[in-house]
Amino acid sequence: MRLISGSARLAGVTGWPVSHSRSPRIHNSWLARHGIDGTYVPLPVRPEDFAAVIPALAKAGFAGVNVTIPHKEAAFAVCTRVDDLARRAGAVNTLIFTDHGIEGRNTDGYGFVANLRAHGVNPAAGPVLILGAGGAARGIGAALQDEGANITFTNRTPERAAALAAALPPAKVLPWESREDALSGFALLVNTTSLGMVHEPPLAMDLSRAAPGLAVADIIFAPLETQLLADAKARGLKPVEGLGMLLHQAVPGFEAWFGMRPTVDEELYRIAAA
Ligand SMILES: NC(=O)c1ccc[n+]([C@@H]2O[C@H](COP(=O)([O-])OP(=O)(O)OC[C@H]3O[C@@H](n4cnc5c(N)ncnc54)[C@H](OP(=O)(O)O)[C@@H]3O)[C@@H](O)[C@H]2O)c1
Repeated sequence: MRLISGSARLAGVTGWPVSHSRSPRIHNSWLARHGIDGTYVPLPVRPEDFAAVIPALAKAGFAGVNVTIPHKEAAFAVCTRVDDLARRAGAVNTLIFTDHGIEGRNTDGYGFVANLRAHGVNPAAGPVLILGAGGAARGIGAALQDEGANITFTNRTPERAAALAAALPPAKVLPWESREDALSGFALLVNTTSLGMVHEPPLAMDLSRAAPGLAVADIIFAPLETQLLADAKARGLKPVEGLGMLLHQAVPGFEAWFGMRPTVDEELYRIAAA
């Protein structure tokens, strides 16, 4: 049994609800593997309590917390400073409590790009088509641009895609109805919509016009293999699953709170997938 001492480092994940989160499993696996005196706990926080709870956690000795739905935008307001990706994404998923205040970062885009590379996909190999224009699309779009990628957004609600492209110049916009016809012009397709997730409708995306070698990334990780990824595999394209993004986005937070940079490997993948 792994016991913690009176001086254990503390971190956790704030969300509402938070019971579905796989982050406690990920961080506590790393803590056990490296014999670190610390723990990572789920913190169910109602939206109306978020602004009061975060400073209280800092005062109670927490090193920081992850922030998940629905608090990623609200987390922005409690920060003393934010990193460039968080500013451009308009959302924070990692809070670090320091002597100088609360530092906010967005590591979703970092996790997405690190997962692409782990699958041998170069994010700047060619034009990228991003399905969706929500919070995840923002962070991923900004991180892909930092890698030198040329990105296009397409979204059911065109106004949201247009607003996102305007916030991330020189990103382009494609009508949602044209996403299948235009596919041959792209080297990477990314699904950031919630379509294809358990209890959600499937994503309608015919891949028959894909260029050979198209990489198809889905950020949905429940199920582990979405219909989009199964279709990509069946066509001999390059599927990139979403659980790896979740594992990689956890790395910078763990390093900041617990003082060592952990690695993402097959064992962690199996633990998080179970
Ligand atoms: N792997 C990871 O680490 C990771 C990280 C973050 C998020 N995620 C997952 O990514 C998904 C999106 O997260 P988010 O925070 O970006 O959510 P969000 O801000 O709510 O955005 C949802 C997106 O899905 C689109 N959408 C929803 N229903 C649709 C439908 N019936 N037809 C067409 N488009 C539809 C929305 O389009 P409209 O604008 O038209 O509504 C919007 O673009 C979630 O399932 C989340 O669990 C995974």
